[in-house]
Amino acid sequence: MHQQVRPTWAEINLDNVVHNVQAIKQCLATSCEIIAVVKADAYGHGATQIAQAALKAGATRLAVSILDEASELRQAGITAPILVLGYTPSEQGGLAARLCVSLAVYERQNAWGLVQAAEAIGEILPVHLKVDTGMGRLGVLPDEVVAFASFLRGLPGCALEGVFSHLAKADEDDIRPTLLQLQRFELALARLQQAGIAIPLVHIANSAAAMRFPASHFSAVRLGLAMYGFYPHPTLKDQGFDLRPVMSLKTKVAHTKWLPAGSPISYGGRYITRQPSFIVTLPFGYADGFQRSLSGKAAVLLRGHKIPLVGTICMDQCMADATSVPEARVGDEVVIWGQDQGLSIAADDVARSAGTIVNEVTALVSKRVPRLYSYQGRTVAVRTLLPPTDIIGSLVSDRLKQS
Ligand SMILES: Cc1ncc(COP(=O)(O)O)c(C=O)c1O
Repeated sequence: MHQQVRPTWAEINLDNVVHNVQAIKQCLATSCEIIAVVKADAYGHGATQIAQAALKAGATRLAVSILDEASELRQAGITAPILVLGYTPSEQGGLAARLCVSLAVYERQNAWGLVQAAEAIGEILPVHLKVDTGMGRLGVLPDEVVAFASFLRGLPGCALEGVFSHLAKADEDDIRPTLLQLQRFELALARLQQAGIAIPLVHIANSAAAMRFPASHFSAVRLGLAMYGFYPHPTLKDQGFDLRPVMSLKTKVAHTKWLPAGSPISYGGRYITRQPSFIVTLPFGYADGFQRSLSGKAAVLLRGHKIPLVGTICMDQCMADATSVPEARVGDEVVIWGQDQGLSIAADDVARSAGTIVNEVTALVSKRVPRLYSYQGRTVAVRTLLPPTDIIGSLVSDRLKQS
């Protein structure tokens, strides 16, 4: 581990990002582009590093949810095309155009305002028309697609670069709703073609669809989950897809003690030891992204043993029963999810225990958890709240030192 960072950290394996993107690329036609979905700080993994790795692996475009996220990527020097998938207020049209970022559009007034804002500063705004084929979220209905596309083409400051939709159930056993959404999308595309409106980029597939429905590929697929190493559907593992988890979460033992039987542990004393117990305190809690609702439902790996967390998870700390590992010592590495001596806890397992999906589990890992990035066996970057060592001196003024 990097010397200076706090002893709760996420390890982000960029080789696995490259591997996962290439694994999906193999099932796509060579003309089909990969749009790496790096919204929400790349599902908690770190947008800039993941975007760079995905682009290295063959992704050609990036997608985020809001303009601020696109701006972060541009500030990091990333020049690849970026699409904002979510709502962008009209006032931000100029900023989007200046950042060379494409926006999703689906409403006349909003689209008009966005394009006006771009035109006002002499810029053309690239847009992707969003169609609602059954998600019930953003998008014009298939019947309205031609009229809306014609409206956009009538705006001189607007470049209609793409048309897209989003699938609601591509990861479910029942494939019929997905087939219906694909049918509606095809219909909308056929109407555009009949109207003589050619749109270069056409995309609807998320990870599940990219892996399960070749008919959903069109000119690009939008990869999130699979790029981070998670299987969108359990059967895909047996169908030859080899995905590798990108994030491991780790901590170190902060304190150990033997407590007698009958000792309450943590807030509310809801857990009481039934026998003399070796309890270890771990410096991570719900403010690091490990939900309090996981109290009593989670385990960690220590010295090749799986041991249960006990008592209520606190904001910054939690406790585990290490009675089966009495040799444990302060400073021992503990795996919250990841692998240790042949054992493993997957972020998916944590999600299942929390009654949620894995995206939420990784996205919740908070900014105070340092991210350590490895590539080709080396730590290539560290993202931490700590300042670079060479500027620490200048952060603390003489006045502060004297007080
Ligand atoms: C519009 C849109 N496209 C693509 C994705 C990527 O989906 P996945 O992570 O399942 O690949 C998402 C994720 O939520 C999304 O909202």
